Amino acid sequence: MIVLGFESSCDETGVALVDASGSGVPRLLAHALFSQIDMHQAYGGVVPELASRDHIRRVLPLTREVLARAEHALADVDVVAYTRGPGLAGALLVGAGVACALAAALGKPVMGVHHLEGHLLSPFLSADPPEFPFVALLVSGGHTQLMRVDRVGSYELLGESIDDAAGEAFDKSAKLMGLPYPGGPHLSKLAEQGDATAFKLPRPLLHSGNLDFSFAGLKTAVLTQAKKLGDELDTRKADLAASTQAAIVEVLIKKSMAAMAQTGLHRLVVAGGVGANALLRRELNDVSLRRGIRVHYPELHLCTDNGAMIALAAGMRLQAGLETSHRGYTFDVKPRWSLHEPQAEPVVASQVIGGVTG
Ligand code: KG4
Ligand code: ZN
Repeated sequence: MIVLGFESSCDETGVALVDASGSGVPRLLAHALFSQIDMHQAYGGVVPELASRDHIRRVLPLTREVLARAEHALADVDVVAYTRGPGLAGALLVGAGVACALAAALGKPVMGVHHLEGHLLSPFLSADPPEFPFVALLVSGGHTQLMRVDRVGSYELLGESIDDAAGEAFDKSAKLMGLPYPGGPHLSKLAEQGDATAFKLPRPLLHSGNLDFSFAGLKTAVLTQAKKLGDELDTRKADLAASTQAAIVEVLIKKSMAAMAQTGLHRLVVAGGVGANALLRRELNDVSLRRGIRVHYPELHLCTDNGAMIALAAGMRLQAGLETSHRGYTFDVKPRWSLHEPQAEPVVASQVIGGVTG
C-alpha cells in the first residue's frame, strides 16, 4: 500500500511517499520539504496569508520530485493523506485541497491526518524505532504535551502546557534577545557559548505535583532580565540564552521523568521541533541511561514539520484497522484539534471538489 502524504499546517511544505504494505513499520520511499523560514524571517514570525500562497507554489513541484526520487508514478499511489489539523486554516486548506483533488482525479481514497499524531509516530521512521507502550513528550512550536501511548490511536493526555508551548518559550525569548525567527535553533546555538548558571530564571510548575507545564512566566522573567541588562545585553546575550535554554530543558526533563514514574513505563519518545534541541537530547540521554529508560527520537531532519510523518501516520492507522480512507473527496480542516478527540469521525462536507461526493 503506497501512501502519498502532504503536510502544510504552518511554514513547511512537505510531501512524502511511504510503503505501508503488510504489517511491518511503513518504509519511507522518498520525501521532499520546502521551508518558508527565509520568507517569514523578515516579519519576525509566520505570516499566514504568505504561508498559504507559498504552499500553493511549492506543493506540486515537490510532489513531482518525490515521485521521481521514489521512481513511482502517481498511478502507483493507493491512498492520499494530508494534514487536517491543527494549524493555520488557510495553509491547511492548500494541502487538503490538493490531496482531495489528486485523489479524486486518480480515483483513489483520501485520508485526513492529525499533525501531532504525525510528530508522535515519526520516531518509527528512525533506525531504532520504539515499541508500544511508551510515554511521548511532544514539544513543538504550538504544543507541549506528555501522553501515554499504548498503541496507534490510543493517546492518553498526562499533562500539557497551560499557556505557552516550549517552542514558543524558545521563540519568544529569542525574539526578546533580538535573534532571528524561528528562535529555537538560534537561541540554542548562541547558548553553546554562554554560562547556563549566569542568570537565575524560574522553572515554572516544576514542583506542582502534576504533569502540566507553564512557560509564560519564564518569558516574562527573560524580558525583565533583558531590560535590566540594558546596553549590557549585547555582551551577555549568550549567558541569557544559555540560562533560558537550561530552564526550559530542566522542566521538560523533570516532568518527563515524573511521567515515567507515574506510568511505570520504561520507554520515552520525544517528538516535535524542540526535540531537535541538542542539550535536551544530551541531558535526557544521560538521565534515562541512569534510570534504565530507553529514549527514542525521530531522525533530526524529521523532528520539525515534514510530509513523511503524515504519510507514516496514515499508513499506521490503516494498518491498525483504525480508519478507512474514503472516496468522499469532501474535506474540512481543523485548525484547532486535540489529539485525544476521536480521530475517525466522518468528514464534514464543508467543501466539495468538482461536485464529487462520496
Ligand atoms: O514541530 P515544529 O516544526 O512545528 C510545529 O508543529 O509547531 O516545531 C517548531 C518549533 C519552533 O518553536 C522552533 O523554534 C523549535 O521547534 N525548534 C527548536 C530547535 N529546532 C526547532 N527549539 C529548540 N532547539 C532547537 N534546536
Ligand atoms: Zn509540527
